[in-house]
Amino acid sequence: MKLLITGGAGYIGSHVVRLLEKDHDLVVYDSLVSGHRESLPSGIAFVHGCLSDTSLLDRTFSENKFDAVVHLAGFIEAGESMQKPEKYFHNNTVNGFNLLNAMLRHNVKKLVYASTAAVYGQPKEIPIAEHAEQKPTNYYGASKLMFEHMLDAMKVNGMQSAALRFFNASGAAFGVGEHHEPETHLVPLILQSALGKGKQLRLFGTDYPTPDGTCIRDYIHVLDIAKAHALALKHLEKGKEGKFNLGSGKGYSVKEVIEAARAVTGHPIPVLECARREGDPAVLIASNEKAIKELGWMPEHGLNSIVKSAWEWHSTNPNGFKE
Ligand SMILES: NC(=O)c1ccc[n+]([C@@H]2O[C@H](COP(=O)([O-])OP(=O)(O)OC[C@H]3O[C@@H](n4cnc5c(N)ncnc54)[C@H](O)[C@@H]3O)[C@@H](O)[C@H]2O)c1
Repeated sequence: MKLLITGGAGYIGSHVVRLLEKDHDLVVYDSLVSGHRESLPSGIAFVHGCLSDTSLLDRTFSENKFDAVVHLAGFIEAGESMQKPEKYFHNNTVNGFNLLNAMLRHNVKKLVYASTAAVYGQPKEIPIAEHAEQKPTNYYGASKLMFEHMLDAMKVNGMQSAALRFFNASGAAFGVGEHHEPETHLVPLILQSALGKGKQLRLFGTDYPTPDGTCIRDYIHVLDIAKAHALALKHLEKGKEGKFNLGSGKGYSVKEVIEAARAVTGHPIPVLECARREGDPAVLIASNEKAIKELGWMPEHGLNSIVKSAWEWHSTNPNGFKE
């Protein structure tokens, strides 16, 4: 298929690009606001631009006959979204709307969307199934959920979509890895700490109702996430659609992830225990049955493989990407 990949220079996007480029013809569209040109394969077709630029979008669609779009571009910091909600609604919702409209203008009606577990908010049941209540507790989740609602509404125009709700994407593959500025994700923060970079690692909350008192999350390898994109495209080609959780179905506490990193890195990784952060649910674990059954997806990498692959990248790229 000929595919437009928005946000292809980002952490997850660059893995998706490297996996999909084997079987598809790709054009990456990225403003590089948080992504890295260096994370893309050298020969890839690249449009440096923002989704707010409707003329550039139109030109890109006119110059390429796309079969489908994979939409990963967006802002991702839940905490920041509570301070700057307008930034999140503008990029994740309004700029997403620009993309959908450009697709309709150019008669491209298949889309795979990088959605998030943040659409669920505080879950009432674990594991979380796709039909669970969607009541985000931050504006990041709300801005992403609004895009899902627009996708649903645009079915009336023939839009066909697969919304993939990622849980905690982590790990590395293809010689690219995770480099966000600022970094807020646990695995890279732990590994930066092992490298002696950044502030001391802070552990938020040790009194949760979990076996060791720390929050439990579902960590899913970025390569497993990339593979789900290939399967979602096949699903769309068969005329199907849907919303799918992408999680391992297993949860690990913050302390367990730190222990795994101590074992892999051989570093003591000292931790500063702090009070709980507001709005952090105690446990978030996906039910991944729907993706397994309907997409034929099977996550292959556990926590150890996530930490090992991430460490391999961080220890050889201690300063992340250079730009
Ligand atoms: N990282 C995770 O754990 C996680 C979890 C759930 C969902 N997601 C979703 O996955 C997607 C990718 O996340 P990531 O971790 O790779 O983030 P990232 O910041 O590394 O990548 C986002 C990419 O989008 C680009 N971008 C942002 N706004 C743009 C715009 N208006 N026009 C063009 N390009 C733009 C950035 O430059 C960057 O390359 C996001 O949509 C995010 O909501 C991520």
